[in-house]
Amino acid sequence: QREDNDRFTRLIEAQEAAAEHFVENLRRHPQAVDYLKQRGLTGAIARDYRLGFALEAWDDLSQVLSGRFNEEELQTAGLTSRKEGGRPFDRFRGRIMFPIRDPRGRTVGFGGRLLGPGEPKYLNTPETPVFHKGQQLYGLYEARKAAPRLEELLVVEGYMDVIALAQFGLRNAVATLGTATTRDHLERLFRVVSRVVFCFDGDAAGGKAAWRALEQALPTLRDGREVRFLFLPEGEDPDTLIRQEGPEGVQARIQAAQPLSDALLEGLRRRHDMASREGRAALGTEAAKLLSTMPEGLLRSQIIGDIARLSGVSTEQFERRMGAPGSTAT
Ligand code: CTP
Ligand code: MN
Ligand code: MN
Ligand code: MN
Ligand code: MN
Repeated sequence: QREDNDRFTRLIEAQEAAAEHFVENLRRHPQAVDYLKQRGLTGAIARDYRLGFALEAWDDLSQVLSGRFNEEELQTAGLTSRKEGGRPFDRFRGRIMFPIRDPRGRTVGFGGRLLGPGEPKYLNTPETPVFHKGQQLYGLYEARKAAPRLEELLVVEGYMDVIALAQFGLRNAVATLGTATTRDHLERLFRVVSRVVFCFDGDAAGGKAAWRALEQALPTLRDGREVRFLFLPEGEDPDTLIRQEGPEGVQARIQAAQPLSDALLEGLRRRHDMASREGRAALGTEAAKLLSTMPEGLLRSQIIGDIARLSGVSTEQFERRMGAPGSTAT
């Protein structure tokens, strides 16, 4: 236990030291600063989010940290990689660095973006003892710091979305790290606020991500919790939108975001052929599976009534198809 704690602390110290060095690099490399300027970011927001730069070099960070951390530690921290039999090299090279902080503000990992074209556009820290990608919410620490009493959190796709919104005063956005929203993410969000608004990119992937988030949200919807969806115009993401429409425009869209129940009914209708009995029955079957995961409550009862009507059966028939709350309909 004691040893685990020490190890944990060492790994965090390595991340902190790396973050500090990346900030130092950014100060010294105008091409990286120019990139951020060209993306419309201010120096102040870059400081708030502790943005940095990893040089286009194989061992810049390894060299700097080698006095304080051994090879094995840097490797376990995900800061270096090595090929079978080869020497270790810096994992992040030629990238703008976004430190990912845990709820206590400690840097536990990074996202890194290439300055120019190339693949992969973003690279993240791999799974490490201190970094579990599927659990992290980028920007949550910063959001809570900016406003200790948050009412609502916005969930967006990208690092740049979180930062652009913050720069224009919408300091309550967080991002999953390129992973699908999980129930665990939602439980974490609902520990902080009672309303969550999903705002994914206006493209096919964003639409899919929204449906997936809706499925994951259903089991978490206890009384008093609310989920909404903001669908962006085709081709836009929150970063591009706020630069076009300003914070007022985006705020107005957030105000008008679609309640989960509407998104659910609309999504189901879109996914099935409402003109045939077969299609309406299939809608009912899919809805039964989804609603059986939802906690009991008035919202659930209302939705059940609407779905029964849509699928052309009585509420009683639909409920029988659904089985008991919390059980999974087959
Ligand atoms: N992502 C990733 N790996 C990639 C591409 C994307 O991990 N190769 C993650 C990143 O967290 C990214 C998010 O998915 O921020 C959303 O992807 P995308 O919309 O493509 O990027 P943007 O955030 O819009 O980035 P940018 O504006 O810098 O192009
Ligand atoms: Mn240089
Ligand atoms: Mn996208
Ligand atoms: Mn973008
Ligand atoms: Mn995007």
